[in-house]
Amino acid sequence: MQEIQTSKNRYAEVPKHADYTIDQQWETYSAEEHDRWDRLMARQKAILPGRACDEYIKAVDTLELSEGGIPDFEKLSAKLKKLTGWEVVAVADLVPGEYFFEHLANRRFPAGAFIRPESEMDYLEEPDIFHDVFGHVPLLSDPRFADFMQAYGAQGVEARRRGALPNLGKYYWFTAEFGLINTPEGRRIYGAGILSSMGETQFALENPSPNHLKFDIRRVMRQDYFIDDYQPTYFVINDFDELLDFAHKDFGPIYDDVAGKPFYDIGEVLDTDHVYQRGTLDYFKRKGKL
Ligand SMILES: [Fe+2]
Repeated sequence: MQEIQTSKNRYAEVPKHADYTIDQQWETYSAEEHDRWDRLMARQKAILPGRACDEYIKAVDTLELSEGGIPDFEKLSAKLKKLTGWEVVAVADLVPGEYFFEHLANRRFPAGAFIRPESEMDYLEEPDIFHDVFGHVPLLSDPRFADFMQAYGAQGVEARRRGALPNLGKYYWFTAEFGLINTPEGRRIYGAGILSSMGETQFALENPSPNHLKFDIRRVMRQDYFIDDYQPTYFVINDFDELLDFAHKDFGPIYDDVAGKPFYDIGEVLDTDHVYQRGTLDYFKRKGKL
């Protein structure tokens, strides 16, 4: 009997194309892997209403992410292409920066094709297909978010030239990965890192530990973070249009302001911050992390 491959090693022998992509080989996913996707998605969909932003909730339905089993990138890309011109391409692991930017700038979203093992249903450090496709892909069908992600990719080139890539990385972290947005109905989630995590979906909005600070680009670009735990600080935008600055503004002066400057401590709140929620940080103090 063939051994069932349950993690990223399923692509160990699959050759990488020059742009770092691989063939998803959708037909090779096992019934267990499809079932794991279904369970991850069902439990996440159950807690997202009232927590995820409306654009995201709507997008999951529009794209029919829920038709059952792990999505086939070819079919998903066909739907996405009609809506905003984006497509989803498979990768085996993290894509080096220059390739990542290049893909985004050309409306290709590189998505990890392996699914997390059963032992890591709640937490994993490397982006798998559930994080990338359930978390990131839906909002690519929203015209404004679609433009933002492309503009972000295009910014990579200029940020590198100015020595500001670490700062641009922080920006991505606190928007596309861990962003919150104020809406008339209350604060909501749009960041993929939260939307694909059952624990953090509840933690980010309902736990008194994290700070909720008003989004400010220079501030965000200098904020350090944990990669192995929930976030002590979330930045909150008021409208997706704020993200579109990337498409319309010259960021040169901003990179000059932030590049090479020290990062703010994790969890730090500055006198100049506009604070929506001052976090107790208790969750992190209990764990001895802060
Ligand atoms: Fe991500």
